[in-house]
Amino acid sequence: MATATAISRHSKGFALNERTDNWWVGPLAVLGGLLAFIIYSTWAAFQGNHYSVGMSEGFGGYLSPMYSPLVYIMEGVEGGAPLSHSLLGTWPDWWPSFLPASPAFIILGFPVLFRFTCYYYRKAYYRAFTGTPPACAVGSLPRRSRYVGETGLMVIQNLHRYALYFAVALIFILSYDAVLSFFRDGVLGVGVGSIVLLINPILLGSYTFGCHSFRHLMGGRRDCFSCDVRAKVAHGNWKWITKLNENHQLLAWCSLIWVGGADVYVRLVSMGVITDLNTWGI
Ligand code: FES
Repeated sequence: MATATAISRHSKGFALNERTDNWWVGPLAVLGGLLAFIIYSTWAAFQGNHYSVGMSEGFGGYLSPMYSPLVYIMEGVEGGAPLSHSLLGTWPDWWPSFLPASPAFIILGFPVLFRFTCYYYRKAYYRAFTGTPPACAVGSLPRRSRYVGETGLMVIQNLHRYALYFAVALIFILSYDAVLSFFRDGVLGVGVGSIVLLINPILLGSYTFGCHSFRHLMGGRRDCFSCDVRAKVAHGNWKWITKLNENHQLLAWCSLIWVGGADVYVRLVSMGVITDLNTWGI
């Protein structure tokens, strides 16, 4: 995080400032990074194919985290999964015809909402995308005279504490996928994809369990941390979650990049562009 030098007053006019550091690097990197992820993940979701490798009727195979869990499955898709891996069965008739039959569309809304409302990302994209202001002690783009912040359009940010429950559930689902990736047709083994899909829930879990809302849930709502056993347990929770929370920004980016990278890896192996090194000899 950039550290502002001591500024005696706020400069007027967009990007005007008295800072001597490269304050613009952060917002610019966030702008580029988030745009790249949004463009890639939207493209990947629209594909609806090549989201799995080696998923047969047997136990095992790689599944892209952008498509997990498979709520419905459209059969006969290149690089898709068989119906037995679906939670609710075959692709539904009610699905709107203007959208491709892609399992990613059914689940992506939950992690998107969780990230969109994350306290760290709010700061990052408010600065990078709206420039109001782009950094501490840097001139802002013109804005409404009265700040309505998160009581106006952005009242949606209050959904973060609810999105957290879905995010936690997703960690367990992606952990199951990681276990699945160490099997191929029920045979235990390991491939590069197994490692990729194992690191994924570790990073996502470290990001999710360092969430401010999660800390409040597990270790907050207390006036005293030493009064009784429950309070002491809450304090213990508060301490380990705080350790993750201190690296929340780093974990937010590492987990985001890893999700995208895992999808790229599964997609390329599924398309036959690259070969997965593994012990199954496939
Ligand atoms: S504050 Fe970032 S995930 Fe909750």
